[in-house]
Amino acid sequence: MQSTQHITIAIDGFSSCGKSTLAKALAKKMNYTFIDSGAMYRCVALYALKNGCALGAHKINLSCVVSSLPHIRIQFGKPDTKGNRPVLLNDEDVSDAIRQLEVANIVSEVAAIKEVREFLVQQQQNLGKNGGVVMDGRDIGTVVFPNAELKLFITAKPEIRAKRRFLELQAKGETNSIDEILENLKHRDRIDSTRAISPLTQAKDALVVDNSEMSETEQLEYVLNLVKNHTRA
Ligand code: CDP
Repeated sequence: MQSTQHITIAIDGFSSCGKSTLAKALAKKMNYTFIDSGAMYRCVALYALKNGCALGAHKINLSCVVSSLPHIRIQFGKPDTKGNRPVLLNDEDVSDAIRQLEVANIVSEVAAIKEVREFLVQQQQNLGKNGGVVMDGRDIGTVVFPNAELKLFITAKPEIRAKRRFLELQAKGETNSIDEILENLKHRDRIDSTRAISPLTQAKDALVVDNSEMSETEQLEYVLNLVKNHTRA
């Protein structure tokens, strides 16, 4: 039986379908390292926003973002009891700031830039080079870790995803409407799936999980079973 200790688990899928929640819980259960690659793209978007590279919702100054990259240092802190890892941008804790809709409104445009992807993919590969990692994103099973031992592609109905994100933002005191959030999810899904570089696609060897009707616990149990079956072969 192959050891489950050091495999790489790649989790990809559309916006707000619970990838990070699953990845975090899985990593905690398996004593693996959780890496939220989307948080890294959100950090670049936040930096761009703060430094005047955003020209409004969905519009960015490309060369401004690219020239910012050498000034951006992203780190993840130690996980708390729930498995959440603080996200540090140039030593500042931006865990909440990167979740704001203002950031979500430009992040997919930022993530479509070749130089941004090269900058972050290299860091992601480095963070996961020793295995024992659960990383979630859009291109983890296809580009970042094409040889990952287990690849999952998560989906859920758009309305369910918008409701989940609405509750998540509401708990943080944000007051965005469900319609506004749904609009953002659809916009990001479209850009993420159609961009020229590393578009969101299902890796050929990924297992699809539709979690529309699953609770967080059910989803975790379902995937832990997949891990078990997968590593038993
Ligand atoms: O949590 P949510 O599903 O809303 O998104 P996220 O994982 O925080 O990612 C934010 C954005 O970063 C996505 O909409 C993509 O545009 C981009 N992203 C990417 O291009 N590649 C990744 N590996 C992860 C995120």
